[in-house]
Amino acid sequence: MAQVVVVDRDGKEHQVDAATGQTMMEVLRDSGDFGVAAICGGVCSCATCHVYVDAAWSPKIKGRHNDETEILTALEAYNPDTSRLSCQIKFTPELAGIKVTVAPEE
Ligand code: FES
Repeated sequence: MAQVVVVDRDGKEHQVDAATGQTMMEVLRDSGDFGVAAICGGVCSCATCHVYVDAAWSPKIKGRHNDETEILTALEAYNPDTSRLSCQIKFTPELAGIKVTVAPEE
């Protein structure tokens, strides 16, 4: 078990446990009340798992696929540099310590 850093919508940082194979959405949804609804269950269709990935960590994560980009760019809170759907980020040991910020609810 490793830990990740989650910044909630009030700007408060939390250390949260993450296991290899979980998606970041599952980490957020299962580890506390960050308001991540994950309505679609992680199939890249609801955008309720939107997060901002700290810029230093972006190169360590697999890039966005077209469906993810399409959904993200339709959001008001979209940030071209840091926005990701957390259900599309698989946690691996290399991501221990990753910092993500929960995006505003839309
Ligand atoms: S959980 Fe629905 S898009 Fe990620």
